[in-house]
Formats: sequence, structure tokens, C-alpha cells
Amino acid sequence: MKRVQLFEFEDFTWFPDVIRKNMTKLIVVFNKMMKLDEVIANGIKPYLGKGKNIVDLGSGAGGIMPQVLNKIQTSEQKLHLTLTDLYPNKEAIAEFKNNEAIDYQMGSVNALHLEKAPEGIKTMINCFHHMPLPTAKSILKSAQSNKETLFIYEVTNKPLPLLVWWLFLPLSLIILIIMSLFMTPFTKPITWQQLLFTYIIPIIPIAYAWDGQASMPRTYSKTDLESLVNELPKDPKYHWEFMDGKNNKGKTTGYYFVGSPVN
Ligand SMILES: C[S@@+](CC[C@H](N)C(=O)[O-])C[C@H]1O[C@@H](n2cnc3c(N)ncnc32)[C@H](O)[C@@H]1O
Repeated sequence: MKRVQLFEFEDFTWFPDVIRKNMTKLIVVFNKMMKLDEVIANGIKPYLGKGKNIVDLGSGAGGIMPQVLNKIQTSEQKLHLTLTDLYPNKEAIAEFKNNEAIDYQMGSVNALHLEKAPEGIKTMINCFHHMPLPTAKSILKSAQSNKETLFIYEVTNKPLPLLVWWLFLPLSLIILIIMSLFMTPFTKPITWQQLLFTYIIPIIPIAYAWDGQASMPRTYSKTDLESLVNELPKDPKYHWEFMDGKNNKGKTTGYYFVGSPVN
């Protein structure tokens, strides 16, 4: 397996929630900059079938799925999006409170217990790399045995060789720290704690930069994912597919890895 199990600050239970939630707000801005709504909408459309509910796991500060929903809703197919996270974001819960098409679950939802999550197509957007190997295996196994559609998207397509990653790490961290200073004014809602821990005591930019970089070698490659599903019992009624993520112009951005029941 090529994946390297580095740590990310936001995965530590002791990590202050105020820093975690402001980091995930930066991820929302990054997702929009990368136009991931377009890429994910293109990937998920063929799997919607007659399903009405999409359940996003590891939604952080809301992520990009609300924008994806706008792109995939049609007058014939009205969809509902349920956002969830191991560490639910209170500000995002409040943001979607009066939205009929979207709700954010207040209780913690662990992607490991896929079968306990609300019913609907499951999505994991830039979240699967947070799952250590045994958890990743159980999630895939649970999706297959419960015949659930599981749509995984990761923005890192082909992880760099680890040596190259280490060589560029200092420069990449500096770039991400500077970027986060410019991205902060575009986050919603802006809070005084966020401004304090960004511009005065820059814990948020430092942790964001590290987690962003660490997520690259943590991303499961195509070969990693294929070897994981090869370990599952063979099931002719369930299908796994790996595809390049594509924007509307056909440019590759990340990958989709999708498990779905065969009709
Ligand atoms: C990199 S953020 C991605 C957030 C969002 N999907 C986006 O694209 O903006 C990863 C999220 O996964 C969540 N997470 C980590 N482990 C999890 C688990 N076992 N179950 C559910 N969520 C988890 C973290 O709390 C964090 O909000």
C-alpha cells in the first residue's frame, strides 16, 4: 500500500473545536476555488437513480455538497441533502436550519458505522483519506454488504512520491499559510476567534497548511483502493469503479471511487 498514515490535527479528539471548525471553513473556500461542485456533480449524476436523499459523511463546515445539490436538482427529481460529521459544526447546523432541501445532523455521525447513518446515497468528499486502514476496509465492506451506493471523492489524484513530498514540504506549507490568510475574508460567518487565531496567533493557518499537505500522502491511490476491494467477498450484485474526476471542460481534478448495487 502506497498510502502513508500521517496525522492531521483535525482528527485529534483533543484538538480545539474552534480551530477545527475554522479550518473546515477554509476548506469550503478552497473547494469553491477549485470548482469542485462542477466536478462532483458530473461524477455523482449517473448514480442518483430514483434515490431522493444524499447523506454526506464528514461534511465539516458544510463542504461543497450544498453547491453540488444546486447543480444536480432538476424539476423532475427533487433531492434532499443530509450533512453529517464526527464533529458536527454548530455554525453550519444553524446556517442550514431553515433550508428545506438541506439539514445538518446535530449528533455525531461516524462514517465507520455506515449502516447507522440516515438512509440515502452516501458521499465522502475529501474525507476518506481520514480513515485509517481498518476503518476504510470496514466502510467499503459495510457499503457492499448493505448494497448501499457509496460515492467517494478525493481531490488528490495521484499522490506524489513521498521523497518529493518531503522535499517540497517547507515551500508548500508557506504557500498554504499565505493562501489561508487571503482566503479567510471569504469564509462565512467570520468570527472574532477566527480573526484572532488567523492574523494574531496564526494557529489556524499553520494547522490548515499541515493538514492540507498531510492529506496528500494519506490519500488512498487507485491501487490501494483496488487492493482493499479485492479483499472483500466477491459479490456479482455489487460493483466498484474508479474514475478520474472531470470538470465541464474535461480537465482531470481528483478521482471518484464508487461502490453501487448492480440492478
Ligand atoms: C478534510 S475535512 C472535509 C470536509 C468536507 N467534506 C469538505 O470537503 O469541505 C474532513 C472531515 O471529516 C471528518 N471526519 C474525520 N473522521 C471522520 C469519521 N470517522 N466519521 C465522520 N467524519 C469524519 C472531520 O471531522 C472533517 O470535518
